[in-house]
Amino acid sequence: MGNGANLDWENLGFLYRETNANYVSYWKDGAWDEGKLVEEKMLTISMASPALHYGQQCFEGLKAYRRKDGTIGLFRPDQNAKRMQDTCRRLLMPEVSEEKFIEAVKMVVKANEEFVPPYGSGATLYIRPFIIGVGDNIGVKPATEYIFCVFVTPVGPYFKGGMTPIKMVVTDYDRAAPHGTGAVKVGGNYAASLLPHEIAAKEGYSDCVYLDPKTHTKIEEVGAANFIGITKENVLVTPKSPSILPSITKYSLLYIAENIFGMKVEERDVYINNLDEFVEAGACGTAAVISPLGSLTVGDEKHVFYSETEVGPVVKKLYNHLIGIQYGEVEAPEGWIVEVK
Ligand code: PLP
Ligand code: COI
Repeated sequence: MGNGANLDWENLGFLYRETNANYVSYWKDGAWDEGKLVEEKMLTISMASPALHYGQQCFEGLKAYRRKDGTIGLFRPDQNAKRMQDTCRRLLMPEVSEEKFIEAVKMVVKANEEFVPPYGSGATLYIRPFIIGVGDNIGVKPATEYIFCVFVTPVGPYFKGGMTPIKMVVTDYDRAAPHGTGAVKVGGNYAASLLPHEIAAKEGYSDCVYLDPKTHTKIEEVGAANFIGITKENVLVTPKSPSILPSITKYSLLYIAENIFGMKVEERDVYINNLDEFVEAGACGTAAVISPLGSLTVGDEKHVFYSETEVGPVVKKLYNHLIGIQYGEVEAPEGWIVEVK
């Protein structure tokens, strides 16, 4: 238990903090139970659970925002629910309906209202839904029981400094296989990213950029975020590949670029030997929001995009519009904001 009001909202970092309540629902004999809020954050599961041995688990990440008018809004939770269903189908796990997913998220946020950071603090409430395959099992096969949980934790910016340019480096490692699980949100992709991240961090980079696992010639992911680049012709370009996680933030930015700013948008191959086509670049995602890419090091060469110290005008404009929608300062497209009452 904690008193949220006492937190140092401006300096939270991206860390776990215990809150008042979590949500759990159990799946057994072909159905989810109703699910409920619990104070307890510990789970008791069988040592033989497939989630522990064979990685049969998945997760999502979204945020709750304290809006200008004091209300609390979720940003496109239906999209997270749908992506979790896609992931469940890939791992032979039972799907959670969109309705149950959003209800669970709302319940946990409401119960932890005091942990939703104040408007203007730059912090948000990060929401982590996940499903694990549990029960006794030893063969490589799907679990017979599952647990769907949601917890929340107040967070500051994912990359230190927030909206300041970051330095990245291309890694030789892959986070996913060409026809593997790169397009879904499973823990295994993140386990595979720990070592390359550690190497990049030791060399002074914020994170590493992954190339396509088949040819290693095209940009795929920027750490735990998608890549966006702005060309000299003011086109917003983002990579297209079956092993990239479809970022909800990225698709929201494509929509904003096209419909609000009248920009051309393209989802296509982004070749690592053609970075000169971009005058600005960024990493986008729920945790990252949009972090401007200052530079990208490829082998011995460092490519600077707009600037290593300043944010480019197009990335800034997209960022301001996106957070404007999230914090209720700018009108949101139909259905993008779901209020927690
Ligand atoms: N790519 C990866 C590997 C991620 O982990 C995330 C975070 O969810 C993203 C991209 C961004 O996706 P979204 O904008 O839906 O958060
Ligand atoms: C998110 O942006 O929600 C992510 O998944 C990043 C995370 C792995 C911390």
